[in-house]
Amino acid sequence: MKQQWSVKDESFFGIGVYQPKTEHNIGTLWRSAYVLGASFIFIIDGKYKPQHSDTAKTWSKIPFYRYESFDDFYKALPYSTQLVGVEMNGNSQAIRTFVHPSRGAYLLGAEDNGLPIPILERCHHVIQLPGEGSLNVAVSGSIVIYDRIQKWESKWS
Ligand SMILES: C[S@@+](CC[C@H](N)C(=O)[O-])C[C@H]1O[C@@H](n2cnc3c(N)ncnc32)[C@H](O)[C@@H]1O
Repeated sequence: MKQQWSVKDESFFGIGVYQPKTEHNIGTLWRSAYVLGASFIFIIDGKYKPQHSDTAKTWSKIPFYRYESFDDFYKALPYSTQLVGVEMNGNSQAIRTFVHPSRGAYLLGAEDNGLPIPILERCHHVIQLPGEGSLNVAVSGSIVIYDRIQKWESKWS
């Protein structure tokens, strides 16, 4: 008999940052990502040394990928996985109405410059959090993951 997989079995997500600047922030994001169920984490064109803020030592539990360029990252996206840019932008979709893909890679921008337009143009989706101003990158990533899991969990129950 053909095995029936549940929606939960066929979904996963990863999260990462393009050109990260503040390693302490990134450690905080990795900790949230691991605790909230990320399958992988990544940085693109940046440096990262293990931080005290990542108390879970996330890199020792799930794959931590480091890509030299956005093109390298894009080519290595897992099969059937959609790229979700997270950025305040005139064309971004409000997270409130966003339906998260089964398999997603969430990409945040640098603390100083955010995600450049050419990268936003290559994302399958670009989403925005509510509020007038820009949030901390680790806080933004954590909110996005929370939104994903609470929307997905309501499908599982
Ligand atoms: C500190 S912000 C970068 C702000 C940058 N100075 C700018 O104005 O574009 C760092 C990253 O956090 C995320 N971020 C911050 N606030 C956000 C919001 N309201 N919606 C979506 N992403 C946000 C984005 O990924 C952004 O690139």
